[in-house]
Amino acid sequence: METKETLWKGRSEGNVHPLLIKLGESITLDIKLYREDLKGSYVHAKMLNKIDVLNQEELNEILKGLKQIQKEIEEHQLPINVELEDIHTHVEQRLKEIIGPTAGKLHTARSRNDQIALDTHLYVKRISLEIAKKLVEICNVLIDRSIELLDYIFPSYTHLQVAQPVRISHHLLAYFWMFTRDIERMIFSYQQANRLPLGCGAATGVNYNNDRLFLMNELGFDELYENSMDAVSSRDHILNFLYGISVIATHLSRLCEEIILFSSVEFSFLELPDSLTTGSSIMPQKKNPDLAELIRGKAAKFISNLNALFITTKGLPLTYNRDLQEDRKPLVESEEILDILEGIRLMILSFKVNEKELEKSLQKGFATATDLADALVQKKHIPFREAHHIVGKLVRFCVENRYTLFDIPKELRKEIYPDLADDDFYFNSIDLKKSVEKKVSRGGTSKVRIEEQIQYAKEKLKKIVENLPKEVNLTLE
Ligand code: ARG
Repeated sequence: METKETLWKGRSEGNVHPLLIKLGESITLDIKLYREDLKGSYVHAKMLNKIDVLNQEELNEILKGLKQIQKEIEEHQLPINVELEDIHTHVEQRLKEIIGPTAGKLHTARSRNDQIALDTHLYVKRISLEIAKKLVEICNVLIDRSIELLDYIFPSYTHLQVAQPVRISHHLLAYFWMFTRDIERMIFSYQQANRLPLGCGAATGVNYNNDRLFLMNELGFDELYENSMDAVSSRDHILNFLYGISVIATHLSRLCEEIILFSSVEFSFLELPDSLTTGSSIMPQKKNPDLAELIRGKAAKFISNLNALFITTKGLPLTYNRDLQEDRKPLVESEEILDILEGIRLMILSFKVNEKELEKSLQKGFATATDLADALVQKKHIPFREAHHIVGKLVRFCVENRYTLFDIPKELRKEIYPDLADDDFYFNSIDLKKSVEKKVSRGGTSKVRIEEQIQYAKEKLKKIVENLPKEVNLTLE
């Protein structure tokens, strides 16, 4: 068996068993962190120059080499070699090939333990912000569509049984508010990762009076870890991130379930454009909402990734343990949420509404029965419970005799309760559009309240955008 030299060739003799190489490599995942890793090395080198570990010439060589490596990775020129284990070793090895032994000085006052901690902190910050921005885009689309569809009446459901009429805008805006909280969770995730672990060495600090404030400022962190053991072993910044993503994925899966349900033949409320659906290889009539189904399904992965990292971290002694490398899969898999969010944006942007089917369902589902009971209370000054009972009887009669509230003959209404024969009163009370207008409480679905809600939504989004945290700067400069 032949292997490349290990980084610890001084201490060990002989080769690393191929099985350990296979199980121990993380490069296939942490190659995704190459920009974070290079930026960390770039700034670390500058710091080493500042504390006189590197002279100017050595620094220039190293910085130039790191830039070349970045270019090579971007152009897919740097071969991945699992024997080199991780991104840090790939960079160090390649730097040695480019500039020679000076490359070996870069790892002074640094360990791969604080290095990987740095990379994951920068990565969490970067992706959290990207996700927050993508959610802002979606929120904008939700506002636009809420304005466009303001006068469409939709059935609301409880227990998946028709409840009461609601403006479709109201339904859409429910997701708007969920997503604003998702954004807040991503900002929290960013803030928690906004703390510099670099400069802590393997666990205890380093034998150099390094300049961690310089590292902090150059790398764009607001704070630094005050305890080196904490810095190299904590993974709660990733847990926060995975939690935030799991909640997003959960929200999206609910939305997708609704899209799937409401675009089925049985509901026929919505239609997605052909480009966001697929056909069947055997059944010519099919139009399947695969995108929504995939997104609904992918939620499982994000939730289990959070769970996996909890279990990895639980019971681990301080400080760094190799188990922690298992954070990489949940971490890099999370990026997929960005594509998922784009899929959601496209579906929200493009679904069409079938007003006729909505109306049919509202009528079939007796959506305004509650309004009728409320109207009786107002007209007759009877207790609500009694009115509820009268309308309940009416509905039962309709169900048994295949009527809706809209087509049951007047004489039959009269038999149930005389006032129900007053057409003016009766039809005003069960009218679908009038029903939503009666929901005047704040947060309700009347037009003025929805317009007010849209205004609040716009203000909320504006505030969010104004307060987004600063971009993570990974350019080598
Ligand atoms: N590949 C390692 C990881 O991802 C880097 C840190 C390795 N540290 C160590 N002492 N072996 O966690």
